[in-house]
Amino acid sequence: MDIPTPSRLDHLSDTELTAKLDPDLLPKHLAIIMDGNGRWAEARSLPRIAGHREGIKSVRDTISLCVELGIRVLTIYAFSQENWNRPTTEIDGLMGLLEHYLSTERNKLIEQGVRFRTIGRTDALPTSALQWVRAAEQETAYLDKLHLTVALSYGGRSEIVDAVRGLVREAQDGKIQVEDIDELHVQQHLYTHDLPDPDLLIRTSGETRISNFLLWQLAYTELYFTPTLWPDFRRRELLLALLEFQRRERRFGRVFSSLSS
Ligand code: IPE
Ligand code: IPE
Ligand code: MG
Repeated sequence: MDIPTPSRLDHLSDTELTAKLDPDLLPKHLAIIMDGNGRWAEARSLPRIAGHREGIKSVRDTISLCVELGIRVLTIYAFSQENWNRPTTEIDGLMGLLEHYLSTERNKLIEQGVRFRTIGRTDALPTSALQWVRAAEQETAYLDKLHLTVALSYGGRSEIVDAVRGLVREAQDGKIQVEDIDELHVQQHLYTHDLPDPDLLIRTSGETRISNFLLWQLAYTELYFTPTLWPDFRRRELLLALLEFQRRERRFGRVFSSLSS
């Protein structure tokens, strides 16, 4: 099939881009490393927090487009465990923004049918931010249109460590035999145990690394890197990423001809 490459799509409107998407080939689970907020602000001689604030608009656009298109699972990397090493002022600003986002956006999330959850060692969050997070998780727990997971105080290696701890405990309690432990058991002990693996990972800002995100789950995910900074990654950028994803041939280690047999 002749699907145009993104550069050949420049002249198309967002509506025309949307029409080009094959609804049967959308990712079931989209994961995003939202990077480049600081550089966006620095390029405008603004404080870094201004970039984080602007990035929230991109989060809004992304959620709305996922809801419109019927993408059911969205996981976004908002704060890594390593991000605790940033200056206190930036961390405080980010936690304040998180609270602000949850307080102002909660009703919209509910209207859109978005279930909000977090993954990560969230106990490390300041008490008031954690209260907002828990409240939003509870209030949206019954919603099902879009499963939004925000990775907060998240590290992929810590997630695997936590899974190992859970499995060892089960083995010690005699609930499982060590020799019976397989990939499914590990998967069932991950923070994302009830979500499918991501089909597509987007990272903005030109960095081409994973930065400790979903290390287990990304085994066969398609990776999409764009130089666009996160605050500039709006609806159109996401449409282009989805169109590019639809051009990929996913092989899962097989040869192409055996995919259909
Ligand atoms: C991503 O933007 C948001 C977080 C990591 C919290 P950055 O803050 O990393 O922005 P850059 O990479 O410095 O431009
Ligand atoms: C990754 O971005 C974490 C988030 C987007 C939350 P970073 O900006 O922290 O990653 P590095 O330091 O460039 O790898
Ligand atoms: Mg960064």
